[in-house]
Amino acid sequence: MKREGVSAQRISAAKVATTSVATTSVAKTPVAKTPLRESGHVSLELSDREFQMFQDWLHRAAGIKLTATKKSMVAARLGKRLRFHGLTRYGDYFRMIMEPAATAELQVALDLLTTNETYFFREPKHFEFLQKTVLPQRIPGRPFRVWSAASSSGEEAYSIAMLLADQLSSTQWEIFASDISTHVLRMASNAHYPMERARHIPPQLLARYCLKGMGPQEGTLLVNRALRSKVTFAQINLNQTLPEIGEFDVIFLRNVLIYFDQETKRKVVTRVTARLKPGGYFLIGHSESLHGVTDALRLVSPSIYCKK
Ligand SMILES: C[S@@+](CC[C@H](N)C(=O)[O-])C[C@H]1O[C@@H](n2cnc3c(N)ncnc32)[C@H](O)[C@@H]1O
Repeated sequence: MKREGVSAQRISAAKVATTSVATTSVAKTPVAKTPLRESGHVSLELSDREFQMFQDWLHRAAGIKLTATKKSMVAARLGKRLRFHGLTRYGDYFRMIMEPAATAELQVALDLLTTNETYFFREPKHFEFLQKTVLPQRIPGRPFRVWSAASSSGEEAYSIAMLLADQLSSTQWEIFASDISTHVLRMASNAHYPMERARHIPPQLLARYCLKGMGPQEGTLLVNRALRSKVTFAQINLNQTLPEIGEFDVIFLRNVLIYFDQETKRKVVTRVTARLKPGGYFLIGHSESLHGVTDALRLVSPSIYCKK
C-alpha cells in the first residue's frame, strides 16, 4: 500500500507486539539551505528586554504566558532562526517577524514557541469515559461530533476516531481537530508517526486502523485512509473569535489551558463551551483546573465536565 511515498502494510496485533521499534524524529525547524554562520562561532544572547518583547507578543497573539523560566527555551528555539537568517540579535529577529510581509516567519516563530507534546490515548481515563459512558448514552440516529480543540499533531483526534469507528458503526460521526500551529497540523494531516508513539494504542485498534511502514518507512505507522477521512484539521487560534464550526457533543480541550493566565482561560473556555451542545461533555487535562473560570459546566469527575 502506498501513499505520499509511504509504504505500509496492515498491522497484526501479534506482529506489533514483536516489532522492534526505530524512532523517526521529525525536525521542527527547516535547516538553512546555505548556513550563513557557523552556529559555534556566534554567541547569541537574549536580553531581558528582548525576552519581554517575545513574552508580550505571544501573550497578545496566542494567550500564552511565557514565565521567566522559559527564557532559555525561547533563546534556544529562536536562536536557530537567527542563524538561519544570519542575524545576531533577537531584537532584530523580533522586528523582522513584526513586518507585515513576514507572516510566514511569524508562523514559524509561533510554531517554535508552542509546546506540542502529545501521544495516542494520553490520559486513558478520558477514553474510557467516552467509550463506557458517553457513547452508550448518545441519542441513536443523531450525528455525533467531537472537537479536539488543541490537537497538536493529531494523536488525540485519531485516538478518539478509533473508538468512534469501533462503536458507532451505524451512526454518522466526525471529528474536527484544530491547533494554532501549522507545523503540527501538517504532521496531523500526514497521520504518519514513529511506531514508538503506538505504545498506548490498544492492540486490536492498532491492527484495525493503522498500517505498518515497510522498507524505508520501517518503524513508523500510518493511520488508515478510512479513519483519516473522518478527521478534519484546521488552524484555529482559541485566543480569537472562533470561526463558524457548528456544535459538538464532546470537546477535548486538554493540556493547553496550563499555558494561559486566568483571564485568557476564562475567555477561551467561554468561547469554546459556547460550541458545546447542552448535556455535552467537556474534557480538560488532568493537571488543569476550571476553578473560578465558568459556571456553565457541571463537574462530573475530575477533569470531566458536562454543559448545564
Ligand atoms: C501540549 S499540546 C496538547 C495536545 C493534546 N490536546 C494533548 O493533550 O495531548 C498543546 C497544544 O495547544 C496548542 N495551542 C497553544 N495555544 C493555542 C491557541 N491560542 N489556540 C490554539 N491552539 C493553541 C499548541 O500549539 C499545542 O499543540
